[in-house]
Amino acid sequence: MAERSSSDSSLALSESDPTSPCTDASVSPTAGLEQEWLPNYNTYDGKNFPPLVRPENLDSLKRCKTRSDDVFVCTYSKSGTTWMQHIVRLLKNNGQTESDQAIVNVIPFLEEYHVDNIDLWTSPRTMKCHLPHHMVPQPSSMDETASSPKYIYAMRDPRDVAVSLFYHTRAFEKYEFTGDWNDFFHIFLNGKAEYGSWFEHVCGWWQRRHYRNVLVVSYEEMQQDLRQVVCKVASFLNLANVTDSVIDQVVAKSSFSAMRVDKTANYSWDDQYRRPGHVPFFRKGQVGDWTNHFTAEQAREFDAVYRRFAERVGDFPECYCSGAGVATS
Ligand code: A3P
Repeated sequence: MAERSSSDSSLALSESDPTSPCTDASVSPTAGLEQEWLPNYNTYDGKNFPPLVRPENLDSLKRCKTRSDDVFVCTYSKSGTTWMQHIVRLLKNNGQTESDQAIVNVIPFLEEYHVDNIDLWTSPRTMKCHLPHHMVPQPSSMDETASSPKYIYAMRDPRDVAVSLFYHTRAFEKYEFTGDWNDFFHIFLNGKAEYGSWFEHVCGWWQRRHYRNVLVVSYEEMQQDLRQVVCKVASFLNLANVTDSVIDQVVAKSSFSAMRVDKTANYSWDDQYRRPGHVPFFRKGQVGDWTNHFTAEQAREFDAVYRRFAERVGDFPECYCSGAGVATS
């Protein structure tokens, strides 16, 4: 096992603080959504989490010590996590997947594990997580290229996230959710969906996007120019020896159509847990599917919440309200 660095693991608890700029003030336990209407979430520290994410594991992550060569792929659920994981995995392996290894084995889902387990993983570790910024293991001093772990944050139009998460939540038996889109719209907008408020989540990383060990990219950028994003990720990970031909392979193998039939990346192993007739993991993979689901009133309501939050925090992505997506650099 590789040697561990001595990086400090104290957590930046800023977003737990009600006075933090990123705290979504509209989210409160009294927001009017009764717990029994919600999917079967686990609750920890006032936020909802998927049924497979256990509070004791979340609690144990407070003791998680980062290593200088750790890479974290961080996202809010349904924002293109698997897409980014696949790109990172291919880049780190010369454009190839490692035999038949499913992506969840190559880049494990951090918060499904207890820290005692995570501590045993061999370096260099690459991990995926959906945790809000303040819960992600990080060293006390983040902005250091040489000795800090790296964090890639992928974000997506929240309206497309909400739609994708609605189908995901309906699909899996474990969520026990039978509500309709209208129900889920309010759950999401009120910060009651898994991992809490999308606004708070994005804000925590967006405001640190200039750190040398943080890379923020958007799903919309990936759709617009995948090659450019793949090159950006390679350079961020200091993969100096990646050739043009490897980049070409990574781009080709990361397309929606290629990943959909790649058994190491397409989550077909989860199909056994999906309710019959529900959508597969590779559902649509599009920008703007929200327009097929939001009513005009919901679009207005969402815009208003978005603008209010953005105005209050100041430093927040250019509004997704226009539907144009954002550039992160
Ligand atoms: P949809 O449900 O809108 O189709 P995550 O990995 O964070 O759970 O995100 C899943 C979403 O990303 C799904 O969105 C899925 O189709 C989309 N996705 C995954 N790989 C993709 C790719 N290569 N290109 C475009 N979209 C992709």
